[in-house]
Amino acid sequence: KKEPLILGIESTCDETGVALVRGGTLLADRTATSMDQYARYGGIIPEIASRAHLESFLPTLETALEEAGVGLDEVDAIAVSAGPGLVGSLTVGICAAKALATSLGVPIYGVNHVLGHLAVDELVDGPLPQKFIGLVVSGGHSNLLLVNDLATDVVELGGTLDDAAGEAFDKVGRLLNLPYPGGPHVDRLSQQGDVNAIKFPRGLSAGKDKERYKYDFSFSGLKTAVSRYVQGVAARGEEIVPEDVCAGFSEAVNDSLTAKAVQACLDHGCDTIIVGGGFSANSRIRTLLNERAAKHGITVRIPPLRFCTDNGAQIAAMGSTLARAGVKPSPLEFSPDSGMNL
Ligand code: KG4
Ligand code: ZN
Repeated sequence: KKEPLILGIESTCDETGVALVRGGTLLADRTATSMDQYARYGGIIPEIASRAHLESFLPTLETALEEAGVGLDEVDAIAVSAGPGLVGSLTVGICAAKALATSLGVPIYGVNHVLGHLAVDELVDGPLPQKFIGLVVSGGHSNLLLVNDLATDVVELGGTLDDAAGEAFDKVGRLLNLPYPGGPHVDRLSQQGDVNAIKFPRGLSAGKDKERYKYDFSFSGLKTAVSRYVQGVAARGEEIVPEDVCAGFSEAVNDSLTAKAVQACLDHGCDTIIVGGGFSANSRIRTLLNERAAKHGITVRIPPLRFCTDNGAQIAAMGSTLARAGVKPSPLEFSPDSGMNL
């Protein structure tokens, strides 16, 4: 018997994603984004994002079905992001998913978007190990997870106490007058700078914080340190070297992320770290994590970037994971959960 055909719908933030997955195979993955509308605001405007989802959903669905070469009537189950995310954005995807599930008479899974960032790796690198450490890092999340079973047993070991890693990059970008979103620009400059020129603090890595917040991150103190440094240099009438500022800052963020992920792996007897989220585009996280993991024989799995940024494939893959595990579908009246826990 053929494995079920899962339609995945993503609308947590600014990406409208629709994908079709059967078993571990991706048949289609289409994404529309409203990101280009936010440059002049310096941040996402939720109302604009919701409206964009409304406008993009049907065209995105149509092209996805076309790409997969399947009809809507062949869909066996629907998976949709139930949270965390912007409530208006989530509502559009969930309403669309419910309407489709009702009219097709198929089950619906309201899935956790963050877990989708890990599930998607099976479409690229093959079946996931039963147990692993998940590191999900983007402009909205920085989560360190112990996955005992992706469908049924995920423990949140830690997360950020303030800014997400991508958000911190964006804020430093703003501080240096770089265009929004600043993350990629800060990354680009950091590669031309000297990591040892300026030593910025690593949050939660010393004193009693070290034990208490063993798996947590904090980037707002770091951002303040960068801001003070920049102001200090200006006050002395000197010129900053943005490349060196970015290199020192990027190193501090990536040092925390990778050290804690590897430590979590060692502490919990895991041999694999799976990374997801748009921050995995960062040039330093890949090299540093691979370097540190290799010392302990830990395997690092990072899907290609298009599967790391928000997409429908991650939601379809998560739906597939739940269906395969025999998890019960969601009741049709479930609501968006903007602060959804794991
Ligand atoms: O997953 P994503 O596309 O959207 C969500 O936040 O959900 O992640 C985008 C975030 C932004 O904050 C962006 O500035 C950051 O990831 N980012 C980067 C890089 N590319 C994107 N941060 C550092 N280095 C990069 N190369
Ligand atoms: Zn995401």
